[in-house]
Amino acid sequence: MIQHFNFNNELSGKIALVTGGTKGAGKAIAERLVHAGATVSITARNKPETETSNLHFIPSDLSKPEGTKKVAEEVLAKFGRLDILINSLGGSETKGGGYAVLTDEDWEQTLQTNLLASVRLDREFLRAMLTQKSGVIIHIASIQGKLPLHDSTLPYAAAKAGLINYSKGLSKEVSPKGIRVLTVSPGWIVTDSSKRMMERISDSSQISIDQATKRVMDALGGIPFGRPAKPEEIAELVGFLVSPRASYLTGTEYVIDGGTIPTI
Ligand SMILES: NC(=O)c1ccc[n+]([C@@H]2O[C@H](COP(=O)([O-])OP(=O)(O)OC[C@H]3O[C@@H](n4cnc5c(N)ncnc54)[C@H](OP(=O)(O)O)[C@@H]3O)[C@@H](O)[C@H]2O)c1
Repeated sequence: MIQHFNFNNELSGKIALVTGGTKGAGKAIAERLVHAGATVSITARNKPETETSNLHFIPSDLSKPEGTKKVAEEVLAKFGRLDILINSLGGSETKGGGYAVLTDEDWEQTLQTNLLASVRLDREFLRAMLTQKSGVIIHIASIQGKLPLHDSTLPYAAAKAGLINYSKGLSKEVSPKGIRVLTVSPGWIVTDSSKRMMERISDSSQISIDQATKRVMDALGGIPFGRPAKPEEIAELVGFLVSPRASYLTGTEYVIDGGTIPTI
């Protein structure tokens, strides 16, 4: 029988949490889920620049176990369940200059924000999702999980590779129990953090922002679309993946990179 979907308000009644939901792709995803009718909480260390009444903000540092616990307790106390968990928190603050300039702290901090925060948060919410026998978990990784940029973001690339692998493994365990687990791997997205990354490369290599941008484009092998993604384009993919229209999708990775990755 053909199934007809109601695209309007298709997430009505769903409770969602978006980590890193105050900026960049996370912010666009949170707005996309609200638009589809979900009740959405967002979390980050600092308040969003403009607070809106349709997003419940929870301040927290997710690189620390206490931060993860606080978010899970607050969401479950307020809503009693979670249907959609978007792990969008991530990024790299490490300096350019290759492996030799990286410290243990650089590695530890990057692994915390790009891998371990998701592992801890998933664990907290899986208890509730397994009881509900339903839920969707999305991990926002990066094409760097397969295409590491060794000069400035090696710990980030390694953490994202770990996240993609973990996401697959988790899906094997929990999909039979009704939870869908998926990975979205964007290429370059225009955000404040990607602008900051160009500034860091420009500072550390004593080159202009334009030259830093070209260096990253060249390291990626070019973007066939000729431009980075807009955060809204990532949000649109996530909006589909968490919807009932994606009911048979689990354990898979979706690359959204304007054709950047050169291999199949
Ligand atoms: N931008 C790109 O080109 C690109 C490319 C591929 C993949 N990605 C991935 O896409 C996702 C979103 O990236 P983005 O560039 O859109 O992010 P972004 O604009 O840098 O925003 C990062 C978000 O995470 C929050 N955050 C950072 N550290 C945190 C911490 N320790 N605890 C809690 N919240 C924290 C930030 O708020 P506070 O600072 O206030 O905490 C902010 O809300 C990330 O997973 C990133 O790795 C991005």
